[in-house]
Amino acid sequence: MKLTREEKQMLEGKQGPATKKAMEILVALGEIYGAKRMVPVSSVQVSGVSYHNLGDAGLEFLDELARGGGRVRVLTTLNPAGMDLLEWQKLGISEEFAHKQLKVIDAFRKMGIVISCTCTPYLAGNLPHFGESVAWGESSAVCFVNSVVGAKTNREGGPSALAAALTGRTPEYGMHLDGNRKAQVLVEVKGRVAETPDFGALGKAIGEKIGNKIPLIKGVKKASTEQLKSFSASIATYGGTALFYMKGITPGKTPVPKEKILITQEDLDKAMASMRDEADEVDLVSVGCPHCSIKEIEDIARALAGKKVKAEFWICTSRVTKTMADSMGFTKTIEETGAKVAADTCMVVAPIKGRFKVMATDSGKACFYGRGTNKFKVKIGTLEQCIAAALSGKWVWGVDAHEH
Ligand code: F3S
Repeated sequence: MKLTREEKQMLEGKQGPATKKAMEILVALGEIYGAKRMVPVSSVQVSGVSYHNLGDAGLEFLDELARGGGRVRVLTTLNPAGMDLLEWQKLGISEEFAHKQLKVIDAFRKMGIVISCTCTPYLAGNLPHFGESVAWGESSAVCFVNSVVGAKTNREGGPSALAAALTGRTPEYGMHLDGNRKAQVLVEVKGRVAETPDFGALGKAIGEKIGNKIPLIKGVKKASTEQLKSFSASIATYGGTALFYMKGITPGKTPVPKEKILITQEDLDKAMASMRDEADEVDLVSVGCPHCSIKEIEDIARALAGKKVKAEFWICTSRVTKTMADSMGFTKTIEETGAKVAADTCMVVAPIKGRFKVMATDSGKACFYGRGTNKFKVKIGTLEQCIAAALSGKWVWGVDAHEH
C-alpha cells in the first residue's frame, strides 16, 4: 500500500503505541482486500460496546488502548451499551454488570469517543453528507448511511472502526470505490409496503433471496426515515448487504442490473408470518430497533397517555432523543403508564436472555435477534398492535399485520 508521510509515521510508532497498533490493523486489512491507499474518514461509529458481548477480554483491550494514549482524530460515536447508563436499575440490570459496563464506557470516553450509545448516529449528531467516506460499524447504520444518505463505508468490525477513529483513515476498498457500488440485482416489488413492519418483512424477503448483493428496488412508493431505518436493519440482518438503491427514494445513481427478481404479496405475507411465533400472551413489548426517533416517541406518548401497561414495555432510544422526549414531557407521559424509555441500550444487547418468553416488536431485526440471541418467541406488528399488546398482555392477531 502507498502510505503518506504521516501514515508512515503512525505505522513507525512516532505518534504513540495506540496509533501504531491501529495503523498496523488498517494496513493488514488493506493488504487482505487489495487496497492501494488509505482514505481519510470524516466520522466513525464504533460497535461492540455492550459488556455482555465484550466480556473481560474486550474490556482489557479497550482499557489498554486508552491507557496507551489512544485518542480519536475524527468525530467518533458509539453503538448501544448493555444498559441505560443512568437508570440501569429501572431495567433490572445487576450491579455487577453495571460496574463492568461503566468501565467499558470510561475507556471509550478516555479515547475521546462521544458516548452517544445509539445505533442511529445519523439522528444524534453524526450525519455525514453524500459521497463522504466514513468508517462505521453496526450493520443497520452502515446500510442506512450508504443507501439513504449516500456516504461511503464498509461494514466495520469493532477493532477496525476503532483503528479508523485513532488514525482518521481507512483502507480504500469495497464500498469506498464507486465501481463496487453498482446494483447487482433488480428487485420488483409487487405488494403492499406501507407500515413499519411491512418494511421489516420486505427487508427479510429481499435479504433472504439476494444475500449480500446490492439491490435496485422498484415498486416502493413511499417510505419515511423511520421506515428506511427499519428496512436497512432488516435487509442487512437477513441478507447482509451494506447498500441498496430504492427508486425514487434514495439518492444514489446506478446502472440497471440484468439479473431480476420479483417480490410478490405472497413473499411479503410469508416473511411476515415467519416473524410471528405461536403464542397468545406477550410479556415483553419492545420497540426502537433501530433506536426510536423523536417522532416515534411522540406517537407512542400520544397513544399511551393515561393508560396502564400489563406487559413490560421498553421504548429503546438514544440519550439525545430521550433528552428531547424528557423536555417535551413525552417520557413522563410514557413512564406514568408503567412503560420504560430505555436510553443507551436495546432489547438485543441488554443481558435479558431468559427473563421473558414472548416479545412483540415492530422490527424485523429485533425478531431475528430476539429469537436467536435471547431465545424469545416473537410477534411482529404495527406500533398500534405493539401498544395494544403492551396494554393487554395478549396477542390477538393472526398472520396479517394489517388486521386490527
Ligand atoms: Fe440497534 Fe439494538 Fe436493533 S443496536 S439495530 S436496537 S439490535
